[in-house]
Amino acid sequence: MIIASNFKTNHTRKLTKDFITTVNKSLTTNTKSEVYIFPSSTALDTYETQDNLIIGTQNAYPIQSGSFTGEIGSAQLDEFDIKTILIGHSERRHILKESQESIVNKYKFYMNLGFTIIYCIGEPLKIKEQGINKILEYLYVQLEGIDTSYENLILAYEPVWAIGTGVTATIEDINNIHDVIKEKIDKPLLYGGSVKLSNVEEICSLKNVDGALIGTASWNKDDFIKIIEITKEL
Ligand code: 13P
Repeated sequence: MIIASNFKTNHTRKLTKDFITTVNKSLTTNTKSEVYIFPSSTALDTYETQDNLIIGTQNAYPIQSGSFTGEIGSAQLDEFDIKTILIGHSERRHILKESQESIVNKYKFYMNLGFTIIYCIGEPLKIKEQGINKILEYLYVQLEGIDTSYENLILAYEPVWAIGTGVTATIEDINNIHDVIKEKIDKPLLYGGSVKLSNVEEICSLKNVDGALIGTASWNKDDFIKIIEITKEL
């Protein structure tokens, strides 16, 4: 299983350090899952972790360094040996208006640097209401320009209407979408969108779900540790 926590705009450096240290200690030698934590940029640092606890960045600009106010580049990530990035998250697409073109540029840049990329796709509510064919059409547009044969690619299906709303997609919906995506692209596929302690086991038990990308329910370290524990044998 791949279990990932996206901190989004939460936790200070101090809290992040405490979170990572505690989660790291909780991983035992029989925790086979790969665990990812994506802190905010201000809390990126060199953390001593076990091999299966990986720290990534929520975002970065496709540049080594330069004049891009407010952004960070690959030089800042190299400083902490960060080699994992989230790209295409719906909050960046919809709230921060990142275009597919800029997402593709970012993807190519970090792919060429060999980063592990968790690439997010997902449809808004008005598309979901039009049925599965429209959903798939929408998701395929988000894959345009993306080299899905890239060896270090992990995909995440995160329906926009399920993110941070407490409304999780139904097991049937997750199953249907994941089956179709997996048939098209043979890469690890995570589900994200209101995954929580009470539903993570059922979701992660689905054949074509390789893990979860979690926001809200992962920000409490004890809950996140429980989530890792519950899913470690799946
Ligand atoms: P929530 O778990 O808060 O719905 O967020 C999901 C998400 O966006 C993870 O990237």
